[in-house]
This record gives sequence, structure tokens and C-alpha cells, in this order.
Amino acid sequence: MTVASSHRSSRRSFLRAAGVVAGGAWLAGCAPTTPAGGGAPAKPASGAAPAAPAAAKPGATVLKVGVLLPYSGVYAVLGESITNGMQMYFDSVNNTAGGRNITLVKEDEGSTPDEGLRKARKLLEQDQVDMVAGTVSSAIAAAIRDPMHESKTIYISANAGLNDLTRARKSPYIFRTAFSNAQPSIPMGEYLVKQGLRRVFVSAADYAAGKESLAAFKEGFLAAGGEIVGEIYPPFPNTDYAPYLTQIAQARPQASYSFYAGSDAVNFVKQFGEFGLNKDIKLCGSGFMLEEDVLPAQGQAALGGISGLHWALNLDNPENRAFTQAYRQKFNKDADVYAMQGYDTARVIVEALNKTQGDTTNKDKLVEAITSVKFASPRGPFEFDPDSHNPIQNVYAREVRESGGKLSNFVIETFPAVKG
Ligand code: PHB
Repeated sequence: MTVASSHRSSRRSFLRAAGVVAGGAWLAGCAPTTPAGGGAPAKPASGAAPAAPAAAKPGATVLKVGVLLPYSGVYAVLGESITNGMQMYFDSVNNTAGGRNITLVKEDEGSTPDEGLRKARKLLEQDQVDMVAGTVSSAIAAAIRDPMHESKTIYISANAGLNDLTRARKSPYIFRTAFSNAQPSIPMGEYLVKQGLRRVFVSAADYAAGKESLAAFKEGFLAAGGEIVGEIYPPFPNTDYAPYLTQIAQARPQASYSFYAGSDAVNFVKQFGEFGLNKDIKLCGSGFMLEEDVLPAQGQAALGGISGLHWALNLDNPENRAFTQAYRQKFNKDADVYAMQGYDTARVIVEALNKTQGDTTNKDKLVEAITSVKFASPRGPFEFDPDSHNPIQNVYAREVRESGGKLSNFVIETFPAVKG
């Protein structure tokens, strides 16, 4: 028994009481609900070093963090990166916060909302976790939102960008350390028009993340006077983009703007190159499509690609230099945006727990502690919007360049303090 039993039983009975939703000012703003460790401690590198780790008290209860991420399927690499980043930060504080030892209970979110929901329920009911970090997929985030909210479990989205998690279906107990799907694309529409790219074909994976990314792009793009010459949504996930690339080529746009991630991004961009599209059409998108996890497999097809994201490997600040160097040292590969999100997720948990001296039972105090966490992240300044719990953060326009024999993203413009 590692978690206070009073907390357990109250949550279990709460979960059993189907359909019961707590009240409060925050909740009044919510839309009706719909279903829908290990490793050696890393030396904290200078600049990214957290506050000196507080040793766990002898006999202190363990803090269980449920980690619900993809360890299989189209987003498996993303799940691994987030886990690595989290573990690296937790190791740097000796896996303790507020006098409690931190332990991770990992579950594969799977590929469908039903699988994700089953795993989330297992973490809550069987493992009795104190909080949940994850998911990668917006579709799965939509499915697990209600059980998290109704059981008053702190749920930190370490990736899933589903806009409504911090908009219409926001909750006092739900936070993001990542982004809303709109966020990386909000400034990119106007930016492309300013670069003279006025005729654009948009395409995206056919689910919430793709649709919300394109909606945000189109809003800025159309307001700036751009013209959408075609819009398509290939199935998610997908391997063969040939019919879609044919449509893009036939429309003769100046640029293509897309949301694809993980192995979808590898396939889309590689095939974009194989079809010879990048000779005449500028490859653009939300940054996941051209991120460090996919660039090595995409190769030259990605060169010159422009994308918007809240981080870049070569972002020049002391925290990012320290983070990317420590990550390379520990995992023998470059960090990516997902690893950075995992790292910051762990930091938010540790700083909040230090503020509450390890207490996770007083939910109001815990919510207040998390909301007030603010720090210099590898991505730039990090703070939560107190109203939505989405981070207010910089978005960077980045260009894929070849440097030192490898492809990587370089910042070409900064859009400061973008709200989701
Ligand atoms: C999402 O489903 O919200 C999602 C998935 C992968 C990404 C970004 C967003 O890279």
C-alpha cells in the first residue's frame, strides 16, 4: 500500500457513481461531458538544472504517476521520446518530489479511443495512480477526459493537442505541458502569405489533430489574403499517399501545408520527394511533420521544409543547450519536441509537489500549485494560462537545413507568447 487509503476509497466510490460531476465555478464553464523507471540518474546539466532535489522522507508514500503513451503503432517513437524526457528529469531529482518517491506506471495507450479508455480506467481503478500524464493522440485524449475530470484526477497532456481539452471541455484537473492543436499553426498562415506563398494546398491526417491544425492555419492564412486551392484528409494512419500527392500536384499550388506525425509524416514527406513535388511546391506544415524524430528517415525530401512548432533542436537558449546535450549523452541520439514535453511534464509535477510538500489529496491546493508553475524551459518561457491550463508559449517558424552532415530544424522567426 503506497497511496493514502482514504484517497483511494473516496476516488473509487466517486468512479462508481456514474454520471456524478462535481460543481464549482470552473465547472460551470465546461461544456456537457461526452464519452468519447529506471536508468541511471542523469547529471543535471548547467542551465537546465532543477532546484536541489529534496530527499524522500523514510516511510513516505510513493507518488504514482500513470504514464499513458503509445508504445506501439504509428506514434510509438513519440511515446518513447516522451518517456525518455520524463525519466531524464525525474532522475535528475533522484525520483523524489515534496518528500515522496516517484514511481511511473506505464501503459500503452494503443491506437483506438476504446483501448486508451480501458488503460486509463486500469490506471485509475486498479493501480490507483495519483495523477496521469499522456496521451499522444487527441482521439484518445477525448475518450479519457471524462473519467479524469469526474474522478478529479490530475491529467497532464504531455502531447495530445485536442483543442477542447483546454477550451470547451476544460477542467480544473486537466493541464497541458505540450500545445493545443491550433497553437503551432496559428501564426503560420499569415507567415506563409508574408513569404509570398499565397496559393496553398492543405492536407492532414483524418482525425481531430489534423482537422484542428488545418483550421488554425486556414484562419490566419485566409485573413491575410491567401487562397486555399485544395483540401484533403487521407485516412489515419496511412502508408500510401500516392492518390493524394497526385491531387496536390494537379492543383499546382505554391506550397503544401499539412499535419502528419510519426510514421505518417515519414511516409508523406518521403513520397512527396519521390513524386518530385518539392521541385515546384514548398513543403510546409505543423512542426511534427518535420520534427527530429522523422527527419533521418525522410532524408533529402525534407530539406528546406518550413514548419511551426513550440521548440527546435537548435533553439539557442541556455536551457535548451543543456537539455539537448544531456539528452544526447543519456540516450545517444538527438532530442525531439516529444522528449522536451516529457521533460517539462516531469518538471511541472516535481515543482508542484515541492510546493504542496508532497500532498496530492487537497485537490484545490494541488491545482493551484500546478497552475502557478512557471519556468525557463528549453522551449523558452513556460507558464500556464490560468483560465485554460494551456501553456502560453513561443511558436517558432523553423526551416530544415543540413548542418554537420545531418538534417535539422533552425529557427527563422519567433512568434512570442502564443495562447492556445
Ligand atoms: C494529437 O493527436 O494530438 C497529436 C499526435 C501527434 C502529434 C501531435 C498531435 O505529433
